[in-house]
Amino acid sequence: MSTMNLVLMGLPGAGKGTQAQLIVKDFDIPHISTGDIFRAAIKNQTPMGVEAKKFIDKGELVPDEVTNGIVQERLAQNDTKDGFMLDGFPRNLVQADALNAMLVDSDRQLDAVINIHVRPEVLVERLSGRFICRNCGATYHRLYNPTKVEGTCDVCGGHDFYQRDDDKPETVKNRLDVNIKLNTPLIDFYKKQGVLYTIDGEQDIDKVYQAVKEVLTNL
Ligand code: AP5
Ligand code: MG
Repeated sequence: MSTMNLVLMGLPGAGKGTQAQLIVKDFDIPHISTGDIFRAAIKNQTPMGVEAKKFIDKGELVPDEVTNGIVQERLAQNDTKDGFMLDGFPRNLVQADALNAMLVDSDRQLDAVINIHVRPEVLVERLSGRFICRNCGATYHRLYNPTKVEGTCDVCGGHDFYQRDDDKPETVKNRLDVNIKLNTPLIDFYKKQGVLYTIDGEQDIDKVYQAVKEVLTNL
């Protein structure tokens, strides 16, 4: 298919970002992560970033008006014309309705919502073992996805890694609770639209990707 308009959904730590990194190697579409956009704004201390940080640090959602506005602006950019991959948006029905409206307005539609399913009890360990390359953003896990050479990023060769502030145990619990509550209605919403594909996210990263790729190549 020529264009591919995707949503990646899944609870915190399910592997959205990890799969997105693999998808962009095979499919030439922009990866739009609202979490990454917020973290960049926080780093640059923009007014939006300062506001968003208050919510992110508590594991709460950033208000819908702010988040929807960011996505609307991003989807108006030209590089999304031949497809896009949203990661972590929408997260509730208000955002899902807003996205539908944005797409209708620009005569587009979603081709697939990839739902990476992982049981909540597995996620705490995923988040506590995660580390990220400060230079290029590549994501690793202490046990499940270490760098090939210890202390060196596989992608860019960087040596500086960090853990996300919201991966602290106190924040993780609320992040999971908030997202678990919102997840089921969203799944039902996209099931009804006939675009939902649920993938078993508890397999090895490569196996998960094989399943994702099979869905995408058959669209
Ligand atoms: P965001 O950055 O999107 O965080 P999240 O949804 O909590 O998801 P994560 O990025 O933590 O997990 P992931 O699914 O990408 O997993 P990853 O691939 O890294 O959002 C952050 C915050 O911003 C939100 O809490 C909210 O405040 C705000 N926000 C964002 N979007 C918003 C919205 N739409 N509305 C309102 N607010 C919003 O993998 C996790 C770890 O597991 C890694 O270490 C990885 O190596 C490992 N791993 C991955 N896959 C596997 C596997 N198959 N097996 C073993 N380990 C694996
Ligand atoms: Mg992510």
